[in-house]
Amino acid sequence: MKILLTGGAGFIGSHTIIELLYAGHSVCVVDNFVNSSAEAMRRVEKITGVSIPFYQVDIRDHDALSAVLDQHPVDCCIHFAGLKAVGESVSLPLEYYENNISGTLVLVDVLRKHGCRNIIFSSSATVYGDPAVIPITEDVSKGKCTNPYGWTKWMIEQILTDLHTADPSWNVVLLRYFNPIGAHPSGLIGENPNGVPNNLMPYITQVAAGKLECLHVFGNDYDTPDGTGVRDYIHVVDLARGHVAALQAVEKNVGVEIYNIGTGKGYSVLEIVKAFENATGIEIPYVIDPRRPGDIGTCYSAPGKALAELGWKAEFDIEDMCRDSWNWQKRNPNGYVSD
Ligand code: NAD
Ligand code: WQD
Repeated sequence: MKILLTGGAGFIGSHTIIELLYAGHSVCVVDNFVNSSAEAMRRVEKITGVSIPFYQVDIRDHDALSAVLDQHPVDCCIHFAGLKAVGESVSLPLEYYENNISGTLVLVDVLRKHGCRNIIFSSSATVYGDPAVIPITEDVSKGKCTNPYGWTKWMIEQILTDLHTADPSWNVVLLRYFNPIGAHPSGLIGENPNGVPNNLMPYITQVAAGKLECLHVFGNDYDTPDGTGVRDYIHVVDLARGHVAALQAVEKNVGVEIYNIGTGKGYSVLEIVKAFENATGIEIPYVIDPRRPGDIGTCYSAPGKALAELGWKAEFDIEDMCRDSWNWQKRNPNGYVSD
């Protein structure tokens, strides 16, 4: 298939391009580089040996996006583009709603005007809120989000579902990612957070690199085996392959379908620290801090639906994830900026 990737230069998009190309698909990328760079695209080209059409375009720019699709007709869009910093979304709600929601509205309008009615959307386990059932299956009701970022995912899921109701020729696949970590085993591409990382694994790798002094563990009084938060970490290459698998749902004309993309295993913060130390031999000093506002105790998926219907399951284990996260950090101490 010919696939448009919005936000394709970002962490998950860049890994997905590679897996799509390996599976025989062709790609076209748009990204405004607000949280990425053309260097990521050059690295993907280096890994794959394929020259990739990519355009510095904001998905809110109707004319520019139309011009790309005039030149590159596509069968399906994988929609990664969006702002994703949870804390920032609390202080900049309008910017988050505008970028993520207006951007999606413009995108689907341009797609339909170009005869493409297939979309795979990057949603998040955050739409479950504090889940009533663990492990979380796709039929568990959506919950209350604790921040504007989460609400944009919640609302975009609804908007795309309504679009299908109005015009059943749309196929909408909502992929609810759990906690992506790791990096491409080549060490050429990975997650490139701005400033001090908010997420656990990039924080740990920066402690390992000596850029940060010690890990702050947010709370050890949750109802979990060691009291620290439990999450379903998934290797970004597995997640990328989940998108290739999701194309089958589009080919089968499923209408609207939701898939959890996780491993089904939960690890606590302290278990992640241990796994990182085992995988790398580097000690991670930590202190226990109070809970982070908005956090929940436990969140992990029941990933069986994606296996049953798409034949997809995660293959990498937690040590692989830690090793590849560290390999990326070690080789690229300043991310995509060469030093
Ligand atoms: P990322 O920030 O690395 O990638 C998003 C990309 O979108 C960036 O390259 C950014 O420059 C681009 N972008 C943002 N707004 C744009 C706009 N208006 N026009 C064009 N490009 C724009 O993030 P990621 O981790 O790769 O996440 C990809 C998607 O998956 C996002 O939608 C994110 O919300 C979602 N998601 C991420 C996680 C996670 O933990 N990383 C979890 C669940 C869902
Ligand atoms: C994981 C665990 C923290 C940092 C977020 C978003 C979610 C999704 C993925 C996009 C928790 C603990 C963390 C630190 C810590 N993103 N922690 N010290 O919060 O599960 O999910 O990213 O959709 O929407 O909310 O991921 O990596 O921030 O935290 O103790 O410095 O690590 O409390 O238990 P989270 P995370």
